[in-house]
Amino acid sequence: MAVREIITPQNAILRKKANKVTNFADPKLQTLIEDMVETMHDAGGVGLAAPQVAITQRVIVIELPDDEESKEEYGENAGVLFVVINPEIVKASEEMVEGVEACLSIPGYFGKVDRHVAVTVQGQDRNGKEIRIKSRDWLARVFQHEIDHLNGVLYIDHAKEVWKASEMEQGETDEVADENTVSETTDGNTPSS
Ligand code: NI
Repeated sequence: MAVREIITPQNAILRKKANKVTNFADPKLQTLIEDMVETMHDAGGVGLAAPQVAITQRVIVIELPDDEESKEEYGENAGVLFVVINPEIVKASEEMVEGVEACLSIPGYFGKVDRHVAVTVQGQDRNGKEIRIKSRDWLARVFQHEIDHLNGVLYIDHAKEVWKASEMEQGETDEVADENTVSETTDGNTPSS
């Protein structure tokens, strides 16, 4: 396993539509998944999409934190590793919710983004088996953020407002800086993905 470099929008790969994975027997796919998990952990993020490590394949990994506070917030999803290949949103709630997001590819920035409160994601697991995941709240937000990455879309494209962490009030900066790599709760902490 290895930590890979996370690319920024200066690298055009981040804007490419990623390709469907078809060969699950390719050992490179398993290495990619392992490396993505390690890279996500190393960066303190809660999600990562393959284009962020310059691989144009439809692979995402998500893991919400599992400290006590997060367990209260995320319930059974806290600390669960989701690896989804070729993920697709097959159902989305009409209800939208605003939240603050950050992205490991756009360090130092935050933005307010409307997302569906709940989405059902269909795809394959790392061995190619069909899976279907129902998600809501923060997990649903991270799924939407990561699946956007597979289409070359960044949260700043549809954010209602984007700001630099350094432009925030000192108090706010402390709050977000402390928590942006840890968890999001209803009072507005912001993980990166
Ligand atoms: Ni991101």
